[in-house]
Amino acid sequence: MINYNNIDTTIAEPVATSMIETFRAIGYSVETAIADIIDNSITAHAENVWIDYIWDGPETMISITDDGHGMDNKELIQAMRPGSRYPLDDREPDDLGRFGLGLKTASFSQCRKFCVISRKRDCEPVYWTWDLDYVCDHSKSWSLIRYKPDNQNLYKKFNENETGTMVIWWDIDRLTKETSTDNEKSKKKFLEVMDSVKKHLGMVFHRYIDEGLNIIFRDRKVSSWDPFMTGIPGVQIRPETRLANDNVIVQGFILPHHSRLTPKEYNYGKGPKDSWTNHQGFYVYRNKRLLVAGDWLGMFKREHHYDLCRMKIELSNNLDNEWRIDIKKSQAKPPAPYRDVIFSIAKEARALAIEIHKHRGKIIKRTLSKDEFFPFWDEYNRHGKRFYRINRNHPIIKTLLDNAGDLKNKVQNALKFAEETVPIPLIMIRENEEENVHGKPFEGISPDPVVKVMKELFINLIKEGYSPEAAKARIISIEPFDSYPQYLHYLEK
Ligand SMILES: Nc1ncnc2c1ncn2[C@@H]1O[C@H](COP(=O)(O)OP(=O)(O)O)[C@@H](O)[C@H]1O
Ligand SMILES: [Mg+2]
Repeated sequence: MINYNNIDTTIAEPVATSMIETFRAIGYSVETAIADIIDNSITAHAENVWIDYIWDGPETMISITDDGHGMDNKELIQAMRPGSRYPLDDREPDDLGRFGLGLKTASFSQCRKFCVISRKRDCEPVYWTWDLDYVCDHSKSWSLIRYKPDNQNLYKKFNENETGTMVIWWDIDRLTKETSTDNEKSKKKFLEVMDSVKKHLGMVFHRYIDEGLNIIFRDRKVSSWDPFMTGIPGVQIRPETRLANDNVIVQGFILPHHSRLTPKEYNYGKGPKDSWTNHQGFYVYRNKRLLVAGDWLGMFKREHHYDLCRMKIELSNNLDNEWRIDIKKSQAKPPAPYRDVIFSIAKEARALAIEIHKHRGKIIKRTLSKDEFFPFWDEYNRHGKRFYRINRNHPIIKTLLDNAGDLKNKVQNALKFAEETVPIPLIMIRENEEENVHGKPFEGISPDPVVKVMKELFINLIKEGYSPEAAKARIISIEPFDSYPQYLHYLEK
């Protein structure tokens, strides 16, 4: 034991400039940074949060305003301090904060200057600014400046509320450096980022939005995005498993196969990441706030055939340490005692999801048509080994062979050579090297050929005497058209 009573000491304060640069390197995206600011608004019991921006090239400003309870001068100065609260302190169950850092790290990750203005009930507004240039070039210390940007348009919403807080970011170098106000390209890029922020917020705060929180992005309400597609017929909800004295709740959701969704529902399911595959996996919530959105937490690989499986994990806010919730609130790791249980719950849900996926042909056949299913590739056994061949009865191949004339033998030969040289070893190596490495049919290229061939088939089937409904049923039983039910309704146009 060291005796601290008579010991020599010296202060070794962190160097403000280097510490702030360190904050800047934490690795927030604009999306996660704005979400972290909104967490504070929710903790302050805001009913409305307004996000606004004034595009002006390198002078662009972003503001986040809430009508929460606000802060007085002393509280605001404390809020501006890095490490304003002790991370191991117990917090109110609905508090979304933890490290006493979010406001500072999220803001500095995006900008060199930010001002916080706040008003408590029956008090005058107070404001303070962190300015990295002032800290670096003038004070070289942890000093705030009493400054607020003088663009009056910024304060309209703040002034309308009796209480609330507003965070203004400017000198947003990470996003607007080397842009210019009237450059259409940089403006377009900025607007795209803002659009992605909007979608991200609709996902991260979907449960708050559904319970009445208004997030208003430039005068438009952000709509919520529910990963579990609650209310859509055919979603299989697995039973809840409660762990750690009800502080952890795990539940699987198997979403309906694409062929059973309307095009609108199917597109909704693609979510902010615009892909079913990127949205499979665990959704970890801390209180009602989504931390992790669609990730298998290192337990499984992301594979196309698990697209229908989404898992909900709900955590209370006293497990941050155990679950290794990071500063950005975008990561979580199941602690060892629960890992195996969560693994097996997910495994069961995944098995159900793959079952639906595997039998999609049969299901579609049963519900839509009596025709057989036409995969593009068949698997077969030759002398005890597995091989893959192109289905000669697939309508595209059949038409090709029927019309090949003198070339028929040559086409057959080409198909045979393609089948015998499928690069299975390479595919296997790539699969093992990296998650989600392989694209899906027509991913990243225009689906025009799909639509075109679907239309040709449709016209031919109608000529053969099929009714439009029967023709559609047949088309949906052909791979890969079974993955594109959303195009069926264009066929008759
Ligand atoms: N919008 C706000 N309304 C009221 N108080 C706020 C707001 N933003 C920040 N604060 C106060 O500042 C403190 C520090 O916020 P922050 O740096 O995000 O850390 P944390 O959220 O982990 O406490 C909060 O605990 C809260 O007391
Ligand atoms: Mg916070």
